[in-house]
Amino acid sequence: MSNRTFTMIKPDAMKNGHAGAILDRIIKEGFRIVALKQTKLSAEKAGEFYAVHSARPFYGELVEFMSSGIIIAAILEKENAVASFRTLIGATDPAKADEGTIRKMYATSLGENAVHGSDSDENAEIEGNFFFSGLEKF
Ligand code: CMP
Repeated sequence: MSNRTFTMIKPDAMKNGHAGAILDRIIKEGFRIVALKQTKLSAEKAGEFYAVHSARPFYGELVEFMSSGIIIAAILEKENAVASFRTLIGATDPAKADEGTIRKMYATSLGENAVHGSDSDENAEIEGNFFFSGLEKF
């Protein structure tokens, strides 16, 4: 079990002004920010990041949305980070997310769901490496 996960604050939450509240919550929940940057994905880069979903019917919509605005990408550290962070953000569909979770509080819809959280230790490593070099992770 790794103690790191990867997250993005997605364009909907950025545009709606929730980035500060989301980062504050993440820190208050005991995650250490290992690395963090604000950036914007091109459609090509968003497509690459979500390549695992390329056969899904929502892939085009997902790529368009994720390249539609500024995002924040971050690597987070806490014991049992992947599972702990997924509990904090709640279900993919905000309508199904528990009260008090980040998606319940800040997400717009299934597609525009405020935050990303890695689903496995292996993907956390891959996704973190997509955005950050070894020099940025300490
Ligand atoms: P995330 O888990 O961050 O990465 C994959 C994303 O695909 C997921 O968040 C959702 O935002 C999105 N997604 C999943 N299912 C659907 C769907 N049925 N329609 C639109 N987007 C979806």
